[in-house]
Amino acid sequence: PTLIVTTLDGTEHRVEGVTGRPVMEIIRDNGFTDMLALCGGARSCATCHVYVGPDQLALLPDMSEDENELLDSSSHRKINSRLSCQIVFNGALDGLHVTIAPED
Ligand code: FES
Repeated sequence: PTLIVTTLDGTEHRVEGVTGRPVMEIIRDNGFTDMLALCGGARSCATCHVYVGPDQLALLPDMSEDENELLDSSSHRKINSRLSCQIVFNGALDGLHVTIAPED
């Protein structure tokens, strides 16, 4: 399965999606440094903010209240914003496209 990552410079990268791994970790493990993910996936920093392909949002589980509140702390929030540490990759997400959001 493939995960598509657009970095801050607008370049699209195709990487191997790993079932059971948070999308944040897959991005980090592929060496992308645009995303800080400062809290390491503990849902407390919002620096793993991504934009999900708008037509793919429905594939993802609903966000928790914590995720929603953290995203509200970003001035770059959009309708398709998610925290990538809260998206666990699986085969059904093959072709998921995430764009790394700018930091505040
Ligand atoms: Fe901190 Fe996702 S890595 S909230």
